[in-house]
Amino acid sequence: MARVQIIAANWKMNKTIPEAVAFAREIVQGVDFTGVEVVLCPAFPALGPVAEAVSGSPVRVAAQDVFWEDQGAYTGEVSPVMLRDAGCRYVIIGHSERRQYFGETDETVNRKVKAVLRHGLIPIVCVGERLAEREAGETFAVVERQVTAAFAGVEEAVAAGTVIAYEPVWAIGTGKNAAPEDAQAVNRFIRELVGRLYSPATAAQIRIQYGGSVTPENAASLLGQPDIDGALVGGASLKVSLFAAIINAASKALL
Ligand code: PGA
Repeated sequence: MARVQIIAANWKMNKTIPEAVAFAREIVQGVDFTGVEVVLCPAFPALGPVAEAVSGSPVRVAAQDVFWEDQGAYTGEVSPVMLRDAGCRYVIIGHSERRQYFGETDETVNRKVKAVLRHGLIPIVCVGERLAEREAGETFAVVERQVTAAFAGVEEAVAAGTVIAYEPVWAIGTGKNAAPEDAQAVNRFIRELVGRLYSPATAAQIRIQYGGSVTPENAASLLGQPDIDGALVGGASLKVSLFAAIINAASKALL
């Protein structure tokens, strides 16, 4: 069974509510996303309004982070229950910026993954090596550690429906995307790892994105790789024209 490409716009800490809603409307009305799943990931305040703007369309909404408790005295945090309530389907977990600036660890990623799955949300689990790790030849070991930790205690029945985003840290926001063959090699390695952790059937089903300086220019060659099932797009997702061109490249990769 073919995996549906998932193209997600990670807006990070950008866009006010009116800007986010206007973007969502333009995507829903003006972009042909036949055969591609499109996900918008606004900051927390815009989640509800964007979910409302895309309701009735195939476009889905993701949060950029979550806390693992359902409720309670955790000032500043947002729970999976609240994200569901706001209309989210997906949650980005373990983005390298969270790991780098906000103390996210493999262990907290795992707690968050289990928490969102408990509430019927789908995690987009981000993994990827830093430049020094790549230069030391540690890419596969780092990614193996991150994926294994993220999925510890996650049942096979739900694992198959999750999404992993391979995002080499040195490629994020730098304009230096991974070469398509290099990204393919890591995505293939992750799929084989999922096969070892679960089963070949789950490995065949799980979707593995690539992220890191994806643009309309390089999208087709990245998305054309057999084990790259979509993109997590930062900078190029902030403009409708650029993001639409990436969606377009994904639907062409299907042909
Ligand atoms: P970028 O960001 O496309 O700007 O490199 C990707 C990401 O951080 O998800």
